[in-house]
Amino acid sequence: MAKDDFESLRSEAEKKSTGWTNPRVIALLLVAISCAAILCTTLTFFLHPDQTVDGDVPPFEPLPTDPDEMTIVERINCYPDRNAGEAERICLARGCEWQPTVVDGAPYCFFPRGHGTYRLVLEQEHTWGMRLTLERETYTPSFFGQDIQTLTLDIEFQSRNRLHFKFYDASKPRFEVPIPLPPRPNEGAINTDYAITYTARPFTIKITRKSTGEILWDTSIGALIFEDQFLSISTRLPSSNLYGFGESEHRSFKHDMNWRTWGLFARDQPPGDNINLYGVHPFYMNVEYGGNAHGVLFFNLNAQDFTVQPTPALTYRTVGGILDFYMFLGPTPDHVIQQYTELVGRPMIPPYWALGYHLSRYGYENLDNLQKVVASMREYDIPHDVQYSDIDYMKRNLDFTLDEENFGGLGEFVESIKAEGTRYIIMLDPAISANETGYEPYDLGVDNDVFIKDEFGDLRYGKVWPDYPNITVNSSVDWDTGVRLFRAYAVFPDYRKQATKDWWIDQITKFKEIINFDGLWLDMNEPANFVHGSVDGCSENIYDLPPYVPRISGGGPIYDKTICMNSVQQLDDNRKENHYNMHSLYGWSQTIPTVDAVQQLTGMRSLVVTRSTVPSSGTNSGHWLGDNGSNWPQLRYSIIGTLEFNLFGVPHVGADICGFFNDSPEDLCRRWHQVGAFYPYARNHNGIRYQAQDPGSYGEEFAVSIRELLHIRYRMLPYLYTLFYDAHTQGSTVVRSLMHEFTHDSHTWGIDRQFMWGSALLISPVLEEDTTVVRAYFPQARWYDYYEGMEISVENLEVAGGIDLVAPRDVVPLHFRGGYIIPTQQPHNCTKFSRLNPFGLIVPLDESMEAAGDLFWDDGDSIDTVENGDYYLMRYIFSRHILTSSFIHVPTNHPTALFENLALDDITIYGLETEPSVVKFNGGALDASSFEFKAETKVLSVKSLDHPMTDVFTLAIEFSESP
Ligand code: GLC
Repeated sequence: MAKDDFESLRSEAEKKSTGWTNPRVIALLLVAISCAAILCTTLTFFLHPDQTVDGDVPPFEPLPTDPDEMTIVERINCYPDRNAGEAERICLARGCEWQPTVVDGAPYCFFPRGHGTYRLVLEQEHTWGMRLTLERETYTPSFFGQDIQTLTLDIEFQSRNRLHFKFYDASKPRFEVPIPLPPRPNEGAINTDYAITYTARPFTIKITRKSTGEILWDTSIGALIFEDQFLSISTRLPSSNLYGFGESEHRSFKHDMNWRTWGLFARDQPPGDNINLYGVHPFYMNVEYGGNAHGVLFFNLNAQDFTVQPTPALTYRTVGGILDFYMFLGPTPDHVIQQYTELVGRPMIPPYWALGYHLSRYGYENLDNLQKVVASMREYDIPHDVQYSDIDYMKRNLDFTLDEENFGGLGEFVESIKAEGTRYIIMLDPAISANETGYEPYDLGVDNDVFIKDEFGDLRYGKVWPDYPNITVNSSVDWDTGVRLFRAYAVFPDYRKQATKDWWIDQITKFKEIINFDGLWLDMNEPANFVHGSVDGCSENIYDLPPYVPRISGGGPIYDKTICMNSVQQLDDNRKENHYNMHSLYGWSQTIPTVDAVQQLTGMRSLVVTRSTVPSSGTNSGHWLGDNGSNWPQLRYSIIGTLEFNLFGVPHVGADICGFFNDSPEDLCRRWHQVGAFYPYARNHNGIRYQAQDPGSYGEEFAVSIRELLHIRYRMLPYLYTLFYDAHTQGSTVVRSLMHEFTHDSHTWGIDRQFMWGSALLISPVLEEDTTVVRAYFPQARWYDYYEGMEISVENLEVAGGIDLVAPRDVVPLHFRGGYIIPTQQPHNCTKFSRLNPFGLIVPLDESMEAAGDLFWDDGDSIDTVENGDYYLMRYIFSRHILTSSFIHVPTNHPTALFENLALDDITIYGLETEPSVVKFNGGALDASSFEFKAETKVLSVKSLDHPMTDVFTLAIEFSESP
């Protein structure tokens, strides 16, 4: 299409008196658009005769046929700016359409169709894919006047199912996310699952799944904008089944596509609707209507927002970096996450003890109170693997100090509970107080030049926890006044510097002499700052006053609740970088030396839990979902957050059980434990000055109920641990949605009140007050009740709205899925002892009377056991009424030590047809007293086998008549 054609198209569209609703204009535009489409298609074919889309296109949800409505759902916002002043004038000056609408959320200002910003001028083929050169159309108005004229687009066929495409400025390096990823392959993949087509003018790109013809990306719906501080791209999506993107509190797992815009920028922010929280994960998964899934990572961590709309379509907007995308073609959801974590790094396996129950609170106040809580855990014999100390163990909240007055003797107490099997984790905050006298962390930090600087090379001061020394705080003043008057200056370590890493590790090392912790808990690492920007605010500069401020919380400047964007940090050994680009990476940069420190000091895997995460954080740390409230809705959203972090490759995740802010009523805390017992990271944490919510604090009946519940978790820890092995070695999720497993069943797409451990266990908790009934959906499979073994009847499968299960206040409905064997171990009050107990196997049979499963077992604590081969991997297979075990892997260096003295004791088989006449173990018939068959449930329980775990076995079931 010639330039003149574009201009006449635009000028027609711009005539306000003859807008889109005028039929003559619509007809004219449609003609022009189809001409453009024909020309562009021709160009595409001409440029890539061999890259055409093959296969049948499956049915799509039809777009509304009314032309007006169609126009509205197709509108891509051309005025996303927060400042509404002069919107119409600016909109038109951007070459966009202005047309108010009554459709809630739809933009008034939108790009005209075929809005051309760049055209293709050069294409080059490479062994790894292609490089395209794009030139900006000079006649297209600009947003902010900083457009990059010439763009390069590299399209790398990285593997059969992974595509990398990035738009950048080849003439001038721009900021790119420094998280290391595998290098570009020398040779691109040849037989890819995707096909690429593009149009030359305007430049648009389409990505198609070859096997179905589904169009996964199509940028022709919007405009490509690449300015220095405003970059944006839009795409159609193949379906509205969109999952992921974070960190935010989403109220449904499947995104609400009704014109929602979400900001992403690391922020010290308690969860709430539509606000950006602690970490940044610009990763989504989309389930196509045909049931295939794909994922996309936007590898950009600058302040950004994205809009989803009912087309369905998605728009990305960011204030820096480059437009860098990875697409993963699945085709199953678990494949997508495996492919994603192959890129960003596989999740770590937490130490075994980290899968136990954790107990924490902010505000124990003194050692005496802490001791009483631990004593009550012992009194009621409640599983208790990890105890925490929040900042109140510190002297005046200063890192690396101990409050001798209130917590004198903590070190000895920690040793005493460690001897009983309970591990200890303490909190560290990044900000270091700058108003102390003789405070070594600050003094040595200054000497070694470890803190972030301002634009003049002076220390950048903010304020976080500690008050000034030797003052009396007037607590009746409001928060901001209190911060201004009483809080001390604080500085922020620049963790990308080697000197900082050394200093941090040195401080941790010295403090371990005082408290012999097992792991560390990193908080406030967004980084949080209680004054905005700095103690003096921020200067007027392009980073703190960028032309576009994404839809991030605070409503104010981009430096709200953090440090000025023009603060200077180290990017790597040789280069400095502005905080503007590095902001959301702060928590990540702190976690790396912290993990190094704890591993060096403990010589063990250890655990680091961090608040601010990014893609790859799951490789070395766990995460809690932040400062939730003790309320029923946030109990429900915690399932969604947990599912999302599993998509993000951070599976060791959970919310504060019973809630952080406010008092937790007993019924809420009880039901919250019933969900939390199935968080991969199960920690009860409470805020300061709220009513106690540890299991012992609600009385004996409650404590006993929590003990029994946690015994269910502990019983299945070998299975949970094996799921982490799968996550570490293959990238699978640990907790997953029903959609993840039953993707072809469209009823599962929107389910987020139930969740699964791996493929085998379905959890359907009560999430509302005053109810003992749960509506639960059961996709096509055999499902067995955990407690009695009763099978869900066939007529209750796939009932669209689900069926009602009865869940008295102490019961969380749990179901095993036929076909998946679950290794178990008898519970104890901590994993140190449960790991010595007899194992068991739960064998729920599928429609073919078969089942299979694995058990991963190592010493639970050493570093890199998988990499070093120091583990067992057992496989159990039930087929033709015979259960067999085999070793898939035996420890390379210590052949027997791990399973020594451990025995397999019981095997429970669910779903047999009829009563067995003989049960043989390793060929010998078992005494009738060693097994029991319950006719009403069809469950066979075999007991007291006492079979050494180091030996394989067979269990054969015989019937007097063939079943
Ligand atoms: C932050 C943390 C919370 C902690 C508190 C005090 O709000 O998110 O978990 O208890 O700080 O350190």
